[in-house]
Amino acid sequence: MRLNDPELVAREYASERGLEGRRAAYRYGVGPDPREMAFEAVAEAEPRRVLEVGPGPGELSERIQRDLRADVVALDISERMVELTQARGVEAVVGDVQQLPFPDGSFDCSVAAWMLYHVPDVVRGISELARVLRPGGRLVAVTNGADHWQGLSELVGFERHESCFSAENGEELLRRRFARVERRDATGWIDFPDRAAAQAFVDSTILLEGDLPVFEGPLRVRRSPYVFVADEPL
Ligand SMILES: C[S@@+](CC[C@H](N)C(=O)[O-])C[C@H]1O[C@@H](n2cnc3c(N)ncnc32)[C@H](O)[C@@H]1O
Repeated sequence: MRLNDPELVAREYASERGLEGRRAAYRYGVGPDPREMAFEAVAEAEPRRVLEVGPGPGELSERIQRDLRADVVALDISERMVELTQARGVEAVVGDVQQLPFPDGSFDCSVAAWMLYHVPDVVRGISELARVLRPGGRLVAVTNGADHWQGLSELVGFERHESCFSAENGEELLRRRFARVERRDATGWIDFPDRAAAQAFVDSTILLEGDLPVFEGPLRVRRSPYVFVADEPL
C-alpha cells in the first residue's frame, strides 16, 4: 500500500473519520507541537495572501485567517474536506496540488501539512506550490520521519514503503525549487495510557493493522514530525 496511491487517498479522505482518529493521539503527545510550529513558520512570513493545500478539516487555515488576518484560500482533493473547511468560514475549493488553478505569484505563503506524501508526482506538486508564490515567498511543508511510530509499528503489521516526501528526502526535493530550505525538528513521543488507546490509534491509521499483543500499563511511541520552511522560489 503506497500513501500516494490516488485510490487510497480518495477512499481515506471521503470522510474525516480516519484522520480524526489519528489526530486524537495529539492529546497523548509529549514534546513540541508540530501544528504550533507550522503556524509559527507561517506567522514569521507576515503573509497577506496564503494558500493551504490539503487542509483536511481546515483548522490551520481558519487560524491563519483569524489570528494573522490573512486572506486564505484552501484547496483539497476531497470534497468532504472542502465542505468542512468552508464550514469554518474559509474560502475552499476542490483541486489537485499537481495542477493549481491560480496564476503565478498569487500568494505570499503556501502551506502543505502532512499532504505531500500523498501526491503521485510530488516534484510537480512542489513546483506548483513554488509557482504560485510571489518572489521571496515561503512554503511551509510538514511531514514525518522514517522512525515515526517506532515502538508501535513493531507490535503490529506494518507495510513500510519509502515515502515520496519525508523528513529524509524533503530537503533535497525542496532545494530544486527554493533558494533556502530549513528543517525544523518537532520530534517527541506519544504516551498512550493503555492498550485500548493504542489499539484505537492503530485502527485509525492507513499503514498499521491488526491487534496489539495484550499488555498492561502505558506504551511510549516515537513521533517524528518535521517542519520544512522553504524560502525564495527559484
Ligand atoms: C493527512 S491529511 C492532512 C490534513 C491537514 N493538513 C492536517 O494537518 O491534519 C491529507 C490531506 O491532503 C489532501 N490531499 C491528498 N492528496 C491531495 C492532492 N493531490 N491535492 C490536494 N489535496 C490532497 C487529503 O484529501 C487530505 O485532506
